[in-house]
Amino acid sequence: MKSEEIRKLFLEFFEKRGHKIIPSSSLIPYDDPSVLLTTAGMQQFKKYFTREKDPNQDFGTQRTASIQKCFRTTDIEEIGDESHLTFFEMLGNFSFGPVGNDDPANFGPDGYFKKSAIYWAYEFIKSLGLEIDYVTVFGGQGEVPFDEESYKIWQELGFPENKILKRGREDNFWGPTGDEGPCGPTTEIYVDNLEIWNLVFNEYYQDKNGKLQKLQYPGVDTGMGFERLMKVLQKTPTIFETDLFENLRNILEKLVKKDDQRRKRIVFDHLRGSVFLVADGLYPSNLDRGYVLRRILRRLTLNLKFLEIELINLEELIKAVIDKYGQFYPELKKFDKIKNMIYEEVISFEKTLVSGLKEFERIIKGNEDDNILGEKIFFLYTSYGLPVEISKELLRQKQINWSEMAEKKFNELFKKHQQISKG
Ligand code: SER
Repeated sequence: MKSEEIRKLFLEFFEKRGHKIIPSSSLIPYDDPSVLLTTAGMQQFKKYFTREKDPNQDFGTQRTASIQKCFRTTDIEEIGDESHLTFFEMLGNFSFGPVGNDDPANFGPDGYFKKSAIYWAYEFIKSLGLEIDYVTVFGGQGEVPFDEESYKIWQELGFPENKILKRGREDNFWGPTGDEGPCGPTTEIYVDNLEIWNLVFNEYYQDKNGKLQKLQYPGVDTGMGFERLMKVLQKTPTIFETDLFENLRNILEKLVKKDDQRRKRIVFDHLRGSVFLVADGLYPSNLDRGYVLRRILRRLTLNLKFLEIELINLEELIKAVIDKYGQFYPELKKFDKIKNMIYEEVISFEKTLVSGLKEFERIIKGNEDDNILGEKIFFLYTSYGLPVEISKELLRQKQINWSEMAEKKFNELFKKHQQISKG
């Protein structure tokens, strides 16, 4: 089954169960200053969990479902391995209290809780022909007790003890996004040893000091990573062989002269991510979220260069993303705008890169001590505009260690430089 069909099946499944289907919100959160970019499906619904907004008034039901565009920056350095992504899609169903009859046979529109959420997740996974390996539940830690209710529901569904693992706060407690908001214990579903679905029971509100208060009504916030789901459904070696990347992959394979999996995955991820960010109105800058875009476009440029792909080919690659996703995300249907903005940034960065790379090759020997290395990377930054994260990437490629000491030296010089620039 193709990704397009799975999106449809998911939304139909929850629509049938009384959920109002809500389009993805923008990657630029309009109403949530706690984060730079949208990182989770629940973000556009935060105020329904806290009762600042009334779901019945806005949706005519207490249940919603969505496929949300998400962008997480925490793992940028990890991109290139088999599983990390910056941009991804998340399939989710949500319930905002008060909880009514929490029976999976009750199709709404009242609020539901653990039983319906778990039964439906189980039923949906089964309906796709997948087998759940095991699940995890919150085992209790600190002031938050063991989630016995979820444990018993999984038992009811036939899961033996050794397939319901208890985990602590690190693994099975989600949220809040940013420094405050709804959060709660989770139960997570694993297929082929991959966590594919996170069911969060938003029972708490965490304030800025990290203190938990009970929410007036508990809610449900589930999120299933779409790329992971497609990987287990299509039984591909990694997420990058699923049909979500098929168009891009076919084009890149034709263009590429070097077989470097890591760089190819960086291109897949960063290209797709930047197309979506630009489509949502973001432009590259040196500030906050604009810098996120700038950073991934720079890494994209660097990796295209190493793969010996001419920048002119970006046009075809951008088109491949729009062709694949434009049907579901109509905001992507502005090829010229997206292409022009990406081109402008990568072409201007390429100039910096060419001279910076030359100088890097000339001065970095690989046997300098940590302080000298910090100084040289600082020099490349101030005199050639070569961003430190790009230098680090180059060092990594040459297997030259960037130590804490080198980082310290760099930061020290950088601070001084900032003070001087400020006058
Ligand atoms: N908020 C949870 C997550 O992002 C579930 O949707 O994983």
